[in-house]
Amino acid sequence: MSKIDNKLKLLACFALLLSQAVFAGGDDPETGFRVFPFLQQVKTNSVGITFETHNSDSATIKVSLNSNMSGYIAHSAPTGKIRKMTLSGLSTNTRYYYTVTSDGETSPVGSFVTALPKGSRLPFRFAVYGDTREAAWYEDIVASYGDNDDHLPVCQSMASKAPEFVLHVGDLGRDGTDMDDVINFFDVEKGLLRNHPIVPTYGNHEFSGGSGTGNTYFDSYLMSSGNSGDFAYYSYNYGNVHILVINTGKYIDNDDSYDLLLPGTAQYEFIQTDLQNAAADSDIDHIFVSLHVPVHSASSWGDNPTLVNHLRPLFEQNGVKAVFEGHDHDYQHLEKNGIHYILSGGGGSPILQIGSPSSDATIHKYEDVLNYVIVDVNGSSLVLEAYKVQGQGNSSSSLLERIVF
Ligand SMILES: [Fe+2]
Repeated sequence: MSKIDNKLKLLACFALLLSQAVFAGGDDPETGFRVFPFLQQVKTNSVGITFETHNSDSATIKVSLNSNMSGYIAHSAPTGKIRKMTLSGLSTNTRYYYTVTSDGETSPVGSFVTALPKGSRLPFRFAVYGDTREAAWYEDIVASYGDNDDHLPVCQSMASKAPEFVLHVGDLGRDGTDMDDVINFFDVEKGLLRNHPIVPTYGNHEFSGGSGTGNTYFDSYLMSSGNSGDFAYYSYNYGNVHILVINTGKYIDNDDSYDLLLPGTAQYEFIQTDLQNAAADSDIDHIFVSLHVPVHSASSWGDNPTLVNHLRPLFEQNGVKAVFEGHDHDYQHLEKNGIHYILSGGGGSPILQIGSPSSDATIHKYEDVLNYVIVDVNGSSLVLEAYKVQGQGNSSSSLLERIVF
């Protein structure tokens, strides 16, 4: 890449920095970052960066094409505490480096690659994980869960696989209205999300204790999808892949919760139209679905009749390759009518042993372990690898299974 090319790429992003100060409260005796910069919504020409400082100081974002930050261009952000910013005007499929300085602290250098354009058949990989709430609160109930260090090793192992983005299938934390819990999530994830943008899915625990009305993660830190308000549901394109993210709601054991995705609802109509459009799109080779409550599970939550009866037909009619699920804290690979149901709910939440697994779907793999999944896309080729993570402070991993589609 020539120096002129580099300069043009940086000048382009310099022209279109958009930012939003979300909250500017009073002074805080602490200084520096409360939430270190993390990435989301990576697109062909932009990326979202969010951070929070203890005080409403000015912030400077430096962007460079070089890992040593040489030749950087600096951007100013408005004052505030939580800053949700979109860095626009970037070049497609290009690696950028960045730091943020505010409130007397400079973040470590992070980096990201802007997305492949829709229809590109160039190779890329993404990761899938979920249910990352900490296990520590469980100590009083289950004596064997005495450590609070399973979530971090999963993040560290995922980062070592260098995915272009990470798809989270929901239940980021334990309680979406508990600020300590929310801040803890971003603290544990800061090393991962500094370099790997998150594509989040609504889990029941993003609400208060799984049954309240709060939604701090999505209201305050994660960006609106642009579809139907704040992150209710959306879809995301990256190269030749289409990912539909569904919101299964907060009352996971109450049939009424599924009102928000029954036929005739806005979300059902969105799902139907979105999948039909993706299936008819010659740029799209692979359609995936992400949702928190599983359609099929051989574990505690079991097969969900509402999802089986109303959503599964849409998946089957429109050529969905795989459905990524969470909610149960384990790893599962099930298959029904040609669709793979990959449940990856082992991101740090307490792993619970169950009795004999059972499901109406074919059970290819079932493991009560910390885990995540790596998906490698290379044109029409699709390879999925599931990894078990040791945990208890140990980020070593081993292959659970390899699926070649
Ligand atoms: Fe859940």
